Formats: sequence, C-alpha cells, structure tokens
Amino acid sequence: VDTVAAVVDTTTTTTTKTTTTTVTRDDFPTDFKFGCATSAFQTEGSGTEGGRGPSTWDSFIQDANTVGTEIATDSYNRYKEDVQLLKNMGVNTYRFSMSWSRILPEGTIDGGINQAGIDFYNNFINELIANGITPFVTLFHFDLPTALNTKYTGFLSIDIVEDFKAYADLCFKTFGDRVKYWATINEPQVWGRYGFTNTAADANAITDPLLSTHHVILAHATAAKLYKNTYQPTQGGEIGIPIVFEWFEPYEDTPQDVFAARRAFDFLTGWLLEPLVYGDYPFVMRALLRDSLPTFTDEQKELIKGSYDYIGVNYYTSRFADGVAISNNDVYTSLDDYQHATTTEVGPDGKLIGPATPGSTSIFVYPEGLRKALILLKNYNNPKVYITENGYPDKRDDTLSVEKASIDDARIQHMKDHLAAVRDARKTGTNVQGYLMWALLDCMEMGSPYQVRFGLNYTDYLNNLARTPKKSAGWLKDFLAGSTTST
Ligand code: NOJ
Repeated sequence: VDTVAAVVDTTTTTTTKTTTTTVTRDDFPTDFKFGCATSAFQTEGSGTEGGRGPSTWDSFIQDANTVGTEIATDSYNRYKEDVQLLKNMGVNTYRFSMSWSRILPEGTIDGGINQAGIDFYNNFINELIANGITPFVTLFHFDLPTALNTKYTGFLSIDIVEDFKAYADLCFKTFGDRVKYWATINEPQVWGRYGFTNTAADANAITDPLLSTHHVILAHATAAKLYKNTYQPTQGGEIGIPIVFEWFEPYEDTPQDVFAARRAFDFLTGWLLEPLVYGDYPFVMRALLRDSLPTFTDEQKELIKGSYDYIGVNYYTSRFADGVAISNNDVYTSLDDYQHATTTEVGPDGKLIGPATPGSTSIFVYPEGLRKALILLKNYNNPKVYITENGYPDKRDDTLSVEKASIDDARIQHMKDHLAAVRDARKTGTNVQGYLMWALLDCMEMGSPYQVRFGLNYTDYLNNLARTPKKSAGWLKDFLAGSTTST
C-alpha cells in the first residue's frame, strides 16, 4: 500500500502562511461553487407529516426531552423561502440532505416508497433549479430510519450496505436527471462513532466505532460504484463523500510532536481518506490497533479504492498534537485511547490554537489549519475537493434583538480568512472547486438543539421561525457580486 506517498509535505505546510491580501471573487474560477449547506433533520421538521417514517434522531430528541425538533426550521413547508434566501445571497449551490425515512419510511424498498416524500424532493429540486441554484444532495446525514436501526443497531451489521445501496439507487433513478452532485454519507467519523444518539456525551452508544465505520465505508463505496457504473455514463454527475478534517499542529517542533500530529490526522481523517484513495486504512492505524481494526478483503479494497469523484472537506477547527512515546509494545484498542493521549487545546505558551467560538468550546478559529489540510490533501492523488462545510457558531442569546443578533462581524471575518486560506491552497495546486458555508440559516444543532447559531440567515425561534438575512449574508452577496474589497 502506497502510504508513503501521503507523508506530510513539511516544506509547504510549515514555511508559508495564509496571506492577508484582499480576497475577492476574482480569486476563484467563474464556475467555482459558492453555496451553503444544511441537512434534512436539522431543517425540515414535519417528522410525522407527509408519510415520513421515524428516524433515530426523532427518538433521540424525544428521549432527551428537548425542544420541538418536529418543527426544526419548518423547511418542509418553507423550502421556497429558503430558496429565496439563497437567491438573495447570489450563491450558485445548495447542499441539503434527503431524509431516508421520508423516502422509504421503513428504510427498505419492500417497506414501501413514500410518494409524498418523492414529490417533496422533486418540488424542492425544481424550485432550486428554477432559481438558478445547483442542488448538491447528501443521501444520508445522521438520520437513520428507526426500522433499520432496530434491525441492525446502526451500521454494526454489514447487511445495512445492501439497504443503503437500494435507497441510493432509488434516489439516483428518481432525481439524477437533475441532481448532478451527490454526497453519500456525511462525516462517517462522527456517524460511525456516535451513530444514532448524540455526540460525545453518548459516545458509548456505538459499541464498536471501528466496525461501524468499516461498514459505512463499504456502504459508501457500494453506492458510489453503482452510480459510476449505472448512472454516471448517462447522467454525467459526480459522487463523493464529506469527511471531517481537522488540522493537528505539532505542540512543539520536535520529531515526536510532528509524528503525533501526523498520527492524529491519520486516526481522524486518514481513517477514511486512505481507504478511499489507496484501498486500506493508514499504516499507523493498522500498526497500533492491530486486531481491533477490521480488515478489508482484496475484493473490498478494489471496490473502495477510487470510489469518489471528489473529496468533501468539512473543516471547523484545529488542535495541537502533543507526542506521547509510542513503543512496539503499545496496543491501542480504541480510538479514544489514542486520541486522548495525543491532542490538546492549549499550546506550550498557554494559548489556544485560535480564538474559541462563542457557540462551541471545541471549535477554535484557525484558518491556517484549513490551508494546511488542503495542501496535505494534494498528496492523496490530488483529488478534486469541495469544502462541503465550514462555519462559525454563535451562541443563541434571546436577550438580543433580531437586529443586534444579526450583526455577525466575527462570522464575516471567519469567511474572509477561510476564503483566503482556500485561495492560497489553490495557488499551490490544490484542486478546490467549491466552498459551502454551514449553514444557510440557524437550525437544529446536534449536541445542543437550538442553542447555537451557525446561520448566515437568522431564524427567530421565538417568533414563528421568521428568517432575516444577517450582515454576513449581505457580505457574501457583495463579495459574490464582486463589489466587496475585503481584508
Ligand atoms: C457537522 C455536521 O455535518 C452538521 O450536521 C453540524 O450541524 C455541523 N457540523 C456543525 O456542528
């Protein structure tokens, strides 16, 4: 396996910096994808309407007794308004997800196809296209049909692969004449670990994240192969997968820390990237996890290798990697063993890697990390890349007026700095072709349902979910129109 080819390019990652010159629309090609992203469960609501079957997130929310996710941002009913928000900003792309259980309430074709669900997505897609916006569709974004979860416990059974394939097949067949950009399974590292419950607090819910993610990879590759063989020749679209990217900065400039940073990257992102590009897990994972890491057969390796047209980069934060001595006798049996031993939020000077965001104590603003991760990605056969998510979380504060809460200068600065990082990575030959902001509007957020605001558009939870463009939406509009000079 050609793992050596992926060794970090230290010259480019450590000696250059994101430049601070003004970033403009002209820094990117005309057909560059500028857009926003969301997912079904975080926006649609209407969980029991229109024939939709339950998904694991419905039960999680009920168990946690949190507020009305059955409404979310009510986008099932207000999708036309959402399309107008996109149009108002002048973006050309919208990444959203389809709810598997809205299309197949039982998760399987045998359980019946829900025509109302198909109609909804047809109308939504048509509305986007009529407004000049390209649909970019995620097939599965964390919301597994409850019926399948009951049967398989998330992705712990390999049988889920065939069910995912059948669902994907139906979507390609039904929507592929108009949808030309497909994402299979969102953030397998998160889904594979936390699956059908919440995030960190419930990490134990997935008893075997390595096995669950193993099946996620096979499900992705099976659907991608089907698309490439059966649909792509006539429909001509692209398929890929959005992966969690974080940059790990060596705590100190020592070989031990440089190696730790590399290992941390391999355990988080290489975990997906290397099977996709080379057909197997990173060498360091195989070496340290040994029998705890499932293995691919030769046939499966062939299936997985190259099963993408683009790699989706979901980038939010970076961390320091602080080397621990690894000896031949160490055997890591879980991801947690490994990750807790090597990463840290505070640098040797006692400072955070970047300012913490108001909405999340684990997201630090570090645009350099995006640039460096993108440059590193070149080493993996230089794939076509879309930034499928990048965003800035504010904390919900109901004491602020809508007008005040919509002045989001920090988000504007965040966008400028990350766009500059993308521009600079492109200058080195990284093939980035799109940048999609999370999120189009404030919506249901996984760990803290409605307490965090990621949107470029404000959602008034106290006032009938009214939408108001924030200052950042205006900035993006001006930027795309070419009239913003930004520093
Ligand atoms: C990752 C996920 O894809 C999305 O569902 C989530 O809301 C955002 N990041 C922000 O945390």
